Amino acid sequence: MKTLYSTTDIEKRVLELADTITSDYRGKKPVFIGVLKGSFILLADLLRAVYTKGLTEVAVDFLTVSSYGLGTESNRKPTVTHDVTTDIAGKDLLIVEDIVDTGYTLQFVQQLLKERGPHSLKTLAFLDKIERREIEVPVEYIGFRLVGTPWVEGYGLDGGAFGRGRPEIVAKTP
Ligand code: PRP
Repeated sequence: MKTLYSTTDIEKRVLELADTITSDYRGKKPVFIGVLKGSFILLADLLRAVYTKGLTEVAVDFLTVSSYGLGTESNRKPTVTHDVTTDIAGKDLLIVEDIVDTGYTLQFVQQLLKERGPHSLKTLAFLDKIERREIEVPVEYIGFRLVGTPWVEGYGLDGGAFGRGRPEIVAKTP
């Protein structure tokens, strides 16, 4: 097992992203939409970071989407198991994802939310497995680009149900 990003790396990157997002959303009241389950730790850190930097009027909602189950291969057919409860028409939405891999999950989520008429829609993916992308999806904010295609665990990402609480991000063999 190899540490890819330490807690210090993660903290620093979240603060950098928070700086950009705070400036981009100045004067707006965005809704951060966390894609569960993987995004809950990132969303909590990001929310507090932007608040500290002055973006205090942020609403939060969650959407649960799954396409991996306990396995390591996407079935490319994401399904919603829990929908947002916010009326998002006319709102400035920021999708918060832990990782983008094939792109199927984000494409599905972006399409679903777009159909509801938001004022704007942007996406943050903390990890980007760019080499594995099968469909193009717009991602405005990226934490780290993964080189090679290791299976990763920690900071919200699971390795077969467990390991989401690992504070750093590690590479694992499936
Ligand atoms: C993971 C991850 C993303 C998705 C990315 O979710 O959180 O949502 O896979 O993969 P893709 O780009 O190939 O679609 P998963 O289905 O494992 O659910 P989880 O967040 O509950 O772990």
